[in-house]
Amino acid sequence: GLLGLLGAGAAGAAVGAASATGITMAATSAMAGTGSGGGAASAYPFFGAHQAGIVTPAQDRLHFAAFDVASTLDRTGLIELLTEWTDAAARLTQGLEVEEGGAVGGSDYAPPADTGEALGLPASGLTITFGFGPGLFTDASGADRFGLAARRPAALESLPRFQGDALQPERSGGDLCIQACADDPQVAVHAIRNLSRIAFGRATLRWSQLGFGRTSSTSTAQATPRNLFGFKDGTANLKAEDGSALDDHVWVQSADGPAWLAGGSFLVARRIRMIIENWDRVQLGEQEQLVGRSKGEGAPLSGGTEFTEPDFEATGATGTPLIDTKAHVRLAHHSSNGGARMLRRGYNFVDGNDELGRLDAGLFFLSYQRSPEQFIAVQRSLAADGLNEYLKHVGSAIFAVPAGVREGEYVGQALFA
Ligand code: HEM
Repeated sequence: GLLGLLGAGAAGAAVGAASATGITMAATSAMAGTGSGGGAASAYPFFGAHQAGIVTPAQDRLHFAAFDVASTLDRTGLIELLTEWTDAAARLTQGLEVEEGGAVGGSDYAPPADTGEALGLPASGLTITFGFGPGLFTDASGADRFGLAARRPAALESLPRFQGDALQPERSGGDLCIQACADDPQVAVHAIRNLSRIAFGRATLRWSQLGFGRTSSTSTAQATPRNLFGFKDGTANLKAEDGSALDDHVWVQSADGPAWLAGGSFLVARRIRMIIENWDRVQLGEQEQLVGRSKGEGAPLSGGTEFTEPDFEATGATGTPLIDTKAHVRLAHHSSNGGARMLRRGYNFVDGNDELGRLDAGLFFLSYQRSPEQFIAVQRSLAADGLNEYLKHVGSAIFAVPAGVREGEYVGQALFA
């Protein structure tokens, strides 16, 4: 019945064709062919060695969601949820509607399987990336409800407390996460909405975050965007083209263990509030000293252009370092952290204002790394960061992001093997 209603548009026709055979390689790869350059009409393959949404060129919009699993959920139910999420994500990322709404769909008396607000919209570069939080392996009472405790990656535990943390529990943690990135906000929100709906009775939304502009580049083909401090952000990021550096710093290697996580990554999420009203009263020269780069060009203060390597030894006429000792880029640089690097994939946010009339704005920081130790090393180094006067970390979460999904499998299947 629903398909008939939708049949008038091209999207409806695609659903009709795909639902006869399931999603075929031909259908997905034909659409994926336009994906490499991003853009509204493009679709990225859902299946692959790694999950999409990590080295995929960062899209412009984000809806990120963290879920708590229901106390009644058992291992079988969890596998069913992951299977339904996988099926839905495989369709959504190709610009198709959800076919079965899990617990809520599937009968003539039930609401439509797809909520409908993305009908007629293209895939818009949508990627859906799933992650597993520490609570999936042992819950708060220490119980091993899903029989997964022995498979928890040793490093997957709540991050340590960092200096200056002002974390709000209602914006932190989560047993499961979904990162939906797209070039159209309606498409990203539609994905999270439908996946939440599919989870009905099995997992509930704990917190979610919208992001409206990327604050990183993850491909050398992308121009560097700006964060809400007005600075180029993502210049020195790890990028898709970095080849073996991704194996060294982003992808969990077989030898790292546990075996099920090989090809995956660790995701850190931090909701970082920016006190932008104070920042906006800081002189340009001081802003640049705090970052360690020029505001216009994004060049290191040691000289050159945007992609010139910073020279932390360079000094000015008076013998003082050109890049300040408490500059963000000095303290974040791998030379200050025992070689730790990461792939940053954050977004700007503005969520209304607080009771003092200040914008509730900032950077929703997302980073992917081979081990949480990389984030911990950099964040500890940043304790001396001059920018901290204008920042407040109010949310924090960590997830193990399994490897990519093969057709016919569900996300994270190796964890349950
Ligand atoms: C670099 C801003 C938080 C890690 C940069 C750059 C800017 C920037 C403007 C220089 C351009 C670039 O290379 O991307 C910010 C702001 C933050 C923030 C405004 C908070 C709201 C963090 C956090 C971490 C981090 C929490 C990790 C714990 C890095 C790294 C670099 C960097 C690794 C590259 C340094 C290099 O190799 O040159 N950040 N950042 N940043 N940031 Fe941040």
